[in-house]
Amino acid sequence: MLATHRAIDCARRSTRAVIAAFVALVLHANAHADAPLNYFLQADGPAATPTMHLGWALAALTVVVALIVSVLLVGAIVRRRPPPTARDASHVQGEGGGLHWVWIGTGISSAALFATLAYVLVTLESVASPRREPALTIAVTAYDWWWKIDYARANDGDAGVTTANEIHIPVGEPVKVELRSADVIHAFWVPRLAGKTQTIPGVVNEQWIEADRAGVYRGQCSQFCGAQHAHMAFEVIAEPRAQFDAWYAAQARPHASDTSANVRTGEKLFLDRCAGCHTVRGSDANGAQAPDLTHLNSRRLIAAGVLPNTAANQLDWIQHAQRIKPDALMPSIALSTAEAAALSAYLRTLQ
Ligand code: HEC
Repeated sequence: MLATHRAIDCARRSTRAVIAAFVALVLHANAHADAPLNYFLQADGPAATPTMHLGWALAALTVVVALIVSVLLVGAIVRRRPPPTARDASHVQGEGGGLHWVWIGTGISSAALFATLAYVLVTLESVASPRREPALTIAVTAYDWWWKIDYARANDGDAGVTTANEIHIPVGEPVKVELRSADVIHAFWVPRLAGKTQTIPGVVNEQWIEADRAGVYRGQCSQFCGAQHAHMAFEVIAEPRAQFDAWYAAQARPHASDTSANVRTGEKLFLDRCAGCHTVRGSDANGAQAPDLTHLNSRRLIAAGVLPNTAANQLDWIQHAQRIKPDALMPSIALSTAEAAALSAYLRTLQ
């Protein structure tokens, strides 16, 4: 008797715990709907919305199954039975006894599982490719621990655009993303726009993204890739077509040189100490292993999402890269006050 009460109590508590956990999950997700990587309650493009709905359906199904099992379990425990007789024992093993509940249960579970499988396959198919041919292809290469972004030439006279950690796309248009890795395996993930895809050395993977609304969508490497994996973020900026075209035209322009003395001193310093790794198109700096700095100041963030892009943060980063992002593949570079001022003046010209 006591054991039965304990079992009922335990079953009740488990049911309550399952419901409380689900409510907490939904409330938590809701409270963080504005969090940039939240994808449970908000998706902003046709490559992400179907999978969000699938997530909801699977979560609901799981809760319903847990509730049904809990209720049946409690019912089985509570139900009084007369002590078994020899007739009952043979009855259970026979066709007409409790065995048909096993068939019913198996039938319902199989139907639910097949329906879920069908829904998963339909969803995967619907996000596999865009409804129309992408107008734009972007090549993204993952490096330890930043992202290089190359836009294929829009036309013959155009030299293409290279930037870092910030992808611009036109709103409402599918964009094809070719994914490569320069070193280890990373994964490209913009939770509100699409699922994640790995970047694997020697392989070109593809995915597509599309944004329904203008806005800034945070992306993040989602495959552990070393010490600064967590600091390997990027942003996708979706904007109306005209604004995107203007951005593209500005990015395609090479650096315009500035002849003032301080800037020239800064440029010389840059060519001596930075150009081995960084490129500034239109100058002699053509290093390939670090972010292209031609239009550095057009970006919102630096160091793959770690710092807002201000003049002070740029200098802080240059002098303390190893403190800000330990093991990053840029050394901390010691600068005298005069050198810092000249370098900063030069960097300001990288609009
Ligand atoms: C040994 C190669 C190397 C040298 C030399 C180097 N950098 Fe870097 N730099 C990098 C790498 C790699 C990154 C990306 C680091 C990351 O985000 O993990 C970077 C990032 C940056 C960024 C942030 C760019 C962005 O958009 O995120 C700035 C600004 C920068 N470097 C300026 C400089 C300047 C100025 C110098 C010279 C005084 C310099 N770097 C020298 C490799 C180098």
